Amino acid sequence: MKQSKIIGTGHYVPERVVKNADLEKMMDTSDAWIQERTGIKERRHIEPGGEDTTSYMGTKASRMAIEKAGIAVDDVDFIVFATLSPDYYFPGPGVLLQKQLGFKKEVGALDVRNQCSGFIYGLSVADQFIKTGMYKTVLVVGSEIHSGGLDMTTRGRGVSVIFGDGAGAVVMQATDEKDKGVLSTHLHSEGEHAEELSLIGPSTTDWVPNYIERNDPEDLRYFPYMNGNFVFKNAVLRFQEVIGEALQTNQMTADQIDLLIPHQANLRISQFIQKQMRLPDYKVFNNIQKYGNTTAASIPLALSEAVLEGRLKEGDLLCLAAFGSGFTWASALIRW
Ligand code: ACO
Repeated sequence: MKQSKIIGTGHYVPERVVKNADLEKMMDTSDAWIQERTGIKERRHIEPGGEDTTSYMGTKASRMAIEKAGIAVDDVDFIVFATLSPDYYFPGPGVLLQKQLGFKKEVGALDVRNQCSGFIYGLSVADQFIKTGMYKTVLVVGSEIHSGGLDMTTRGRGVSVIFGDGAGAVVMQATDEKDKGVLSTHLHSEGEHAEELSLIGPSTTDWVPNYIERNDPEDLRYFPYMNGNFVFKNAVLRFQEVIGEALQTNQMTADQIDLLIPHQANLRISQFIQKQMRLPDYKVFNNIQKYGNTTAASIPLALSEAVLEGRLKEGDLLCLAAFGSGFTWASALIRW
């Protein structure tokens, strides 16, 4: 059986930097509050009316990943695109990215939701397709635009200060090298808490008379809702569980991890996990300080930066882990 290996990484973030001080002008918040609770100093927001869309940012990140992989666009056999903020209600962004990248082949494009865990879910799907021999080269993308949908008033401050826009992508390819690439992936969900971190509208449920019309700006169902404390408590528990599951499956221990890239939910969550796992700072990669929480984009965006910074060398053990809305949580153990 083939193994699947990441052979190229890429990312893209919009140019517009929104600092905590900029948010202070829009709502009752402070740089000190945001930094103390989340670690975030600034995030990127797209230019309203500009060229960036979720699919287009994913396309830019993909171009970089494809270039770094040293392959051509048409070497890609399949696309997996994870996002909770698609350009359109339908079709999903996978086909838009396919068009924008200029594919000559009619490759399949799969859209994945799964919010903050979306990238690892996508990576797991790609890994299975490669291991079964169905595809040789798969592009996995995570891209998000949160800025257009947030409540940027004091009413929404508990959520809006956390999230940012960005994109990341990886190219995965089949390899005959044993014990290289993706060793295992682990996926979980718990629909019991679906509403604890959610955006209910627009939807097709019967309370929306016509989802095409965004009718009432006062209707809170059109803004993301987060039960922050409850999410925090579940996140720290599930992160540890799912990392433990990956290590146990591969009969490894935490000290064998060379680099942990947690979904960039909140620096306090990452630091909590780091402490529980007794990992030194150099073994954990965080960039939430610069980008905020970019949900499905956060892991590939961090991975691409970690690679550029030389934080991974051949043979290193990389652990990816995520928790988010759904609730969903996931991990992947990768021999680099
Ligand atoms: N600026 C200033 N004050 C604020 C802000 C803000 N941006 N947001 C909330 N507050 C106020 C609240 O109104 C509250 O005021 P009150 O005491 O007068 O009622 C006070 O600060 C404390 O609010 P809490 O919600 O209890 O603050 P907490 O310490 O729990 O921090 C936070 C909130 C940061 C959201 C925290 O719960 C958290 O980190 N949760 C996890 C969030 C997260 O990581 N989500 C993403 C993970 S999943 C995913 O990625 C999709």
